[in-house]
Formats: sequence, structure tokens, C-alpha cells
Amino acid sequence: MSDDRQPESADAPVTPAHAGPDHEEPSAFKREVWGTRAGFILAAIGSAVGLGNMWRFPYRTAEGGGAAFVLLFILMMFLVGIPIMLAEFSIGRSTRLSPIGGLRKAGGKGWTPLGYLFVISGFLILAYYSVISGWATRYALSAILFGVPADPSAYFDGISTGMPAIGFHLLFMAIVIAIVMIGVEKGIERAALVMMPILFVLVIGLAIWAATLSGSGAGYSFYLSPSISDIFNLPTISAATGQAFFSLSLGMGAMLTFSSYLSRQESLPREATVIASSDFAVAFIAGLVVFPIIAALGLQAAVDESTAGTLFIVLPGAFEAMGGIGRVVASLFFLAIFVAALTSAISLLEVVTASVIDEWNVPRRVAAIGAGALIAIVGLWPATDLAALEAMDLVAAEVFLPVGALFMAILVGWRLKDPIGEVAKNVPERFHPWLTAWIWVLRVVVPIFLVVVLYYTIPNGWGAVRALF
Ligand code: TRP
Repeated sequence: MSDDRQPESADAPVTPAHAGPDHEEPSAFKREVWGTRAGFILAAIGSAVGLGNMWRFPYRTAEGGGAAFVLLFILMMFLVGIPIMLAEFSIGRSTRLSPIGGLRKAGGKGWTPLGYLFVISGFLILAYYSVISGWATRYALSAILFGVPADPSAYFDGISTGMPAIGFHLLFMAIVIAIVMIGVEKGIERAALVMMPILFVLVIGLAIWAATLSGSGAGYSFYLSPSISDIFNLPTISAATGQAFFSLSLGMGAMLTFSSYLSRQESLPREATVIASSDFAVAFIAGLVVFPIIAALGLQAAVDESTAGTLFIVLPGAFEAMGGIGRVVASLFFLAIFVAALTSAISLLEVVTASVIDEWNVPRRVAAIGAGALIAIVGLWPATDLAALEAMDLVAAEVFLPVGALFMAILVGWRLKDPIGEVAKNVPERFHPWLTAWIWVLRVVVPIFLVVVLYYTIPNGWGAVRALF
């Protein structure tokens, strides 16, 4: 987000409330607007594409039984993900406020607690997201400085918890806080603009390289050929739903916030489709890298031992096998993952910070440092205990995000004055029947579906948390 946006109309003066130290008024009063459509799309894709695609997707797929999970994930992205993304967009763009204020304006005072839930979700997710980002930071630095570790499984064990993990977690949080605080998002947008395509090209290149390895066949069949019986499995359906929300940054107001800066000239359904498709492509190709390599290099046992480390165990194995060029590829790759994680982490802290600014009227600097420091402290726990990290991730993605999405579906479906009108702007006439379908999916299908999912995931998440004590 930057300071070069034009006002969309006279009632939307440009005051970059989120853009820098000298603009510390509550953003509720003045809205900045994206300068270009590309700015919005990039920031939204930057938020969506991150560890969710590179780390979480292969990890959860490995746990969720492979191809059935992948199929369900595609289904959930488009059946539930896009409708919820449109719901967030319609609240954001119609109210032009950050989550808490936006919900209040759209639904009335009773909806404020949902805004608090968003803040708590962002808080919880960033606390462990930063730990994993810390791993990626460390992998990037050590690949550049020392090369690829010879025994990736042992290396991951050594650095994933305890002092090494804490150090890089705090380093990463410091970078995120600094960026959100001084608002140098412009630089970040540029970094993302360069690094995202590099990431994309590298993942595709690695996927092609993996296809040439002998013995990769078992990986493909695990990843790509689902057995029908596995699809009608509530735990897998729930896990795939959680993954779709997490990967698309839905269910906690991040997309809502982005769209509150968006001009009325854009077609929301088109934006949602572009964002979801890019996000899906990166995740899917990451799987095409990870699973064939596991099979070809015989990494199954190492991965089973620590599924959360799948990406961090598999990739160094591959880079090692490449020989001399492996180190260069490794350096670029982990650097790209670092940047992808950074743009996502910024969006998480931004939601929390913007809400704190709006609700308590504190300066941006205070809000960013205060919230960021608290999050860094909470992150000490997952940095010392992998089980805590996994439990926090499970609860956030499969309980908090679906709860947030459920209430947003109800709010937009049943309370917003003219949700179709907002979403229909600049959508060609012939697509309008789809919007009627969308609102009924939001009113009926999504709530029923999410209640069923939550009926399973709430006790499951609670069990995972209880097991920690
Ligand atoms: N979508 C990001 C990823 O895949 C993570 C993320 C950023 C996120 N902002 C979010 C997840 C908001 C949920 C909600 O890495």
C-alpha cells in the first residue's frame, strides 16, 4: 500500500491513513484508494501466496491422505473460498472501513465482537506464522552463506525449535513490525513484484526437474489419484476447508481490509477469481515439487517423523541432489519463500494494527509495535514446541477462520442492504444470474456446510489444545 493513490471521488479524499508515520488519524474518517488495479491485485495475491502454499499445503496434503485432500481443496477454494472472498469484498468496499468499523456499519453494534474475533485470529496466526517464516529466513541465509545442509532431516530438527527458532522468529517479527510501522509497503510491493515471479518460475522449474527423477511415480499417484471413498470423509473435508481459508487469507478480515481501499471501477468477481486461481496454482505446483521428490529420494520416513517440516526436509534433499547449481537454486528459492511469507505476515499484522488504530485511536507506531511485540511474545511458545505450533495452526485454520467466515456469510447474506448491487458493479449483464446463485450459496449452502465442519473441528481442535497440557 502506498501513497500514490488517486481519490476515487470527492467523498473519498486521499489520506493514507495506513501509509506512514505522519498520517496517524483513525482510518475510519478518511480513505485512501489504490492507485491502480494492479496495486490491489498484487497486495491481495501477496497476502494469499505465502507459507500456506509452500509449507502448509504440502504438509496438510501429506497428513490428509494425498489426492483426496487435493481434490477437496480445489472444490473448497471455488465453492466456499470465492463466495466468502466476495462477501469480504462486498463489506469492505461498501463500508470503506477496516474490519471492526466495517462490521459495525454493515451489521450494527452487535457485530463488533466478530471484529474482535478477526483480531484474535490474526494475532494467533501471525504468532506461529512468524516461527515458520523464521525457519525460511534461516534456510535462505544459510544457503547463501554456507550451502545446503547435508542431512536435511537432522538439520530441521536442530533449528525448528528452541533458541535457533526463537532467534529467527524474533528477527522476522522485527522486520514485519518495522514495515507495518513505517509503512514502506511500497518497497515491499516492489520486492514482491520481483520475487513472486521468481518464486513462480522456480517452483515450475523444480516441478519439471522432479518429473525427471526416477522413482517419482509413487509420489504422483499419492498426490494425484484420489480414491473416491476418501473424499466423503469429514476430517478430510474439514482440513481441506481450513486450508482453503488459510491459503486465501479469508475469515479474518484481511481481504475485507484490502477491498476497503478498492475503487468501484473494479469487478469484484473477476478480482476474486484471479486471486484464487493464482493462489491455487502456486500451491498445486508446490505439491508437484514435493511429492515426487519424497518418492524419488526416499524421504518418506523423514517426512512422517515431522510432517510439519515436509517442505524444509524435502527441498534441501532436492537441492543437494542437484549438485553444484543446487546452492544457487536453494538460495533463490528460500529467499523467494521469505519474501512470500513477509508479504503475508504484513497483511496479518496490518489487520490487527488497523483495528487497534481505529478502535482505540492510538498512533500507528504505537499500535504496530504494541501488537507486534505481544504477538512476538506469544510466538515464543510455538518456537519452543512443535506440537504447540501444530495445535495453534489447527485451531486457527479449522476453527477461527471458518467461524469468521460463517458469520460473514450470514452478515452479507441476510443483513447487508444490497450485497448483490455492490458485487454487481462493472460485472457484465450476462454474469448476473451467477450473482443470484452466489447470494444463495452464501445464505444457505455456506452456513450449513460450515456448521457441519465446525461440529467436527471444534472438539478436534479442543482436543489438540488439551493434549498440550
Ligand atoms: N494466506 C497466507 C498464506 O497462505 C497467510 C495469511 C495471510 C492469512 N493473511 C492471512 C491466513 C489472513 C489467514 C488469514 O501463507
